[in-house]
Amino acid sequence: MQPKITNLINEQIKVLNSKQAINRGTNSIRLDKGEFPYPPSPKVVQAIATAASEINRYPDVLGGDLREALAKYTGKKINQIIIGNGSDDIIELILKVFVTIGEEVLLPIPTFFVYDFATQVVGGNSIAVPRNKDFSLNTDAIFEKLSDKTKVIFIANPNNPTANLVNRNTILEILERVECLVVIDECYYEFCQETVSDLVEKYPNLIVLRSLSKSFGLAGIRLGYAIANETIIDYLYRAAQLFPVNKLAIIAANAALEEQDYVNSNIQKICQERNQLTLAMENLGLIVYPSATNFLFVSTKNLGITSQNLVQSLKEKNIFVADFGLKQGLDAYHFRTAVGTTRENQILLAGLNEIFDQKQNT
Ligand SMILES: Cc1ncc(COP(=O)(O)O)c(C=O)c1O
Repeated sequence: MQPKITNLINEQIKVLNSKQAINRGTNSIRLDKGEFPYPPSPKVVQAIATAASEINRYPDVLGGDLREALAKYTGKKINQIIIGNGSDDIIELILKVFVTIGEEVLLPIPTFFVYDFATQVVGGNSIAVPRNKDFSLNTDAIFEKLSDKTKVIFIANPNNPTANLVNRNTILEILERVECLVVIDECYYEFCQETVSDLVEKYPNLIVLRSLSKSFGLAGIRLGYAIANETIIDYLYRAAQLFPVNKLAIIAANAALEEQDYVNSNIQKICQERNQLTLAMENLGLIVYPSATNFLFVSTKNLGITSQNLVQSLKEKNIFVADFGLKQGLDAYHFRTAVGTTRENQILLAGLNEIFDQKQNT
């Protein structure tokens, strides 16, 4: 008997798309993944190297002293903190714990794609709620979509890909009105210093998500964390893997948290680069949205070139940025670029210049 394997696959998984390996080649300018362009501090690298000889041992089950360090960093108690294999992992964990087949997750779109993806994996229904034209939240539309099936609302603050902040009063208005879980994703917290982590004691349905991928330059090590009340953290840990975070990630994150000056000076550099890149792109005729992050969200509309064509032309020059043309809630003219090093930003600008010159001459 040869069983047909697809008959055994869960229905909600059958409809997912296959993942493709992306080859960004060598010597490419990689601005498509929102990465921080500076490496971690030498002390972090040294800590990983020193710990490498101990990886025959499992990591501490709940993350050991890293939770303590994060509690100190955030001003919270240890049992208000959970760590995970990137904040992506914690997003999945939240959905595993709170959402079952047919239940609803509200997503103000456009927003970070993982919320929708992870909702589909657990068989939940993503309910898209369009943002206002300036990408601010449309709270009336959110309240209209609430139903007795709504379990979670995800709000990225600042948002990816649109780079804008949500007003604190708007978050408070939502927290006052809803009974479902509210996840405020502060992946870019260090760039804007805006947080609602002070509200987790008041609102038992609030989870604040954070990451060491961006400002701490640790995307490759995969370390995210969440802040919430003790009950939520306890249930999340019950459903988590026994060893959700690898030993080197714990060591690296601990070392990175001790290097606050290094992190702050990198953030300052990125903000300067971001402002210069914004001006230079505006001078080329692009519309650049205000950014509270380490990336820029850009419209090509004024230049009459679709973002798909522009992103493809840049790719041919070995420059990678992310196309958002015709993605949920967007027209055909949007792309996102990380703010890179001075050199990377100059290469991006030169590439754009060439493409626009060529377009004018044809
Ligand atoms: C809003 C938002 N949340 C979460 C993540 C994922 O972060 P991590 O690398 O910690 O999984 C990203 C990554 O780009 C993001 O933009």
